[in-house]
Amino acid sequence: MSDSIPDTGAFLYVGSEEQAREWARIFAERAPELDFRAWPDIGEPAAIRYIAFWRPLEDAATRFPNLVLVFSLGAGADQIDLRDLPERITLLRLVDPNITAQMVEYVSFAVLALHRDTVRYTAQQREGVWQPLPVSLAAERRVGILGLGVLGSAAASRLRDLGFRCAGWSRSVKRIPGVECHAGNGALASFLAKTDILVCMLPLTGNTRGLLSAELLAQLPRGAALVNVGRGAHVVVSDLIAALDAGHLSAAIVDVVDGEPPAPDHPFWTHPRILMTPHVASVTRPGSAIASVLDNLARHGSGRPLLGAVDRSHGY
Ligand code: NDP
Ligand code: OXD
Repeated sequence: MSDSIPDTGAFLYVGSEEQAREWARIFAERAPELDFRAWPDIGEPAAIRYIAFWRPLEDAATRFPNLVLVFSLGAGADQIDLRDLPERITLLRLVDPNITAQMVEYVSFAVLALHRDTVRYTAQQREGVWQPLPVSLAAERRVGILGLGVLGSAAASRLRDLGFRCAGWSRSVKRIPGVECHAGNGALASFLAKTDILVCMLPLTGNTRGLLSAELLAQLPRGAALVNVGRGAHVVVSDLIAALDAGHLSAAIVDVVDGEPPAPDHPFWTHPRILMTPHVASVTRPGSAIASVLDNLARHGSGRPLLGAVDRSHGY
């Protein structure tokens, strides 16, 4: 058994047949000693101690009585209801450098696109309008990031390096060189008042669901823009549309929608001030995801702290 990966218990992967073949191939290469299984060939349920999925198996805890670790196959784990997992089971989200790199790239693209009025120029092009808008320097644009965790702090650092005036907001106090860090509900209003481009990189929890509401958007300066790469349910759709239609917000770039794919009559499809992408800001890739899973299995085997463990008291 290599590098203290636990030698007891099986690992079950739940995903499409094609993905399962890829996971099996990489596990065979990198951890041949591990008893890897792919849904639906689960074998003896009592042997399964580790499970990885994106769409949750809601009865996993009862079906697999010796389960100890549940791996979400994404950086977020809000799709998994912690009430389905007794305390003996630890829920882990993916902390993976490839996820971070892709997210930093997407957020840089979205902020630069809004900074240079790309959504509005796209609408003008469709309408046959040739109308230059005033150009600002990055140093004159204030970007505010909701969520300064693994992804938000990396994006903030990159935006700072691109020359933007960068600030962020989190639950606990953070220190990121060159980024003005705010913490807690009491600091939200002053943070919003100084934000021209707001980027949501929060996890979805009871405290953050519906946060991007009329009340919050009204606290942004007139003409501000929004990027949402968190979760669709952070946004109150009708409030966002109303803010755009009233001209309070200039544009929005959204990568996530509550209920994906959105229904054909969802207003985001056709709104001229919205650019929507199909949840691709960051996509889980098996190679690095498996490296992160194997690292956590080794940590678990040797009793070291796990990376990305969801804190039940905070829900993320
Ligand atoms: P982390 O858990 O590392 O960071 C979350 C951040 O949000 C932390 O800074 C945390 O504060 C802050 N936060 C949470 N709740 C609150 C609150 N109530 N008030 C203020 N701040 C709060 O998560 P990641 O950075 O890894 O990921 C963030 C989210 O990005 C994921 O949960 C997922 O929803 C989304 N995502 C989207 C993808 C896409 O393709 N669109 C891909 C990957 C992720 P503190 O630091 O104090 O704990
Ligand atoms: C994730 C996601 O959480 O894809 O990784 O949204």
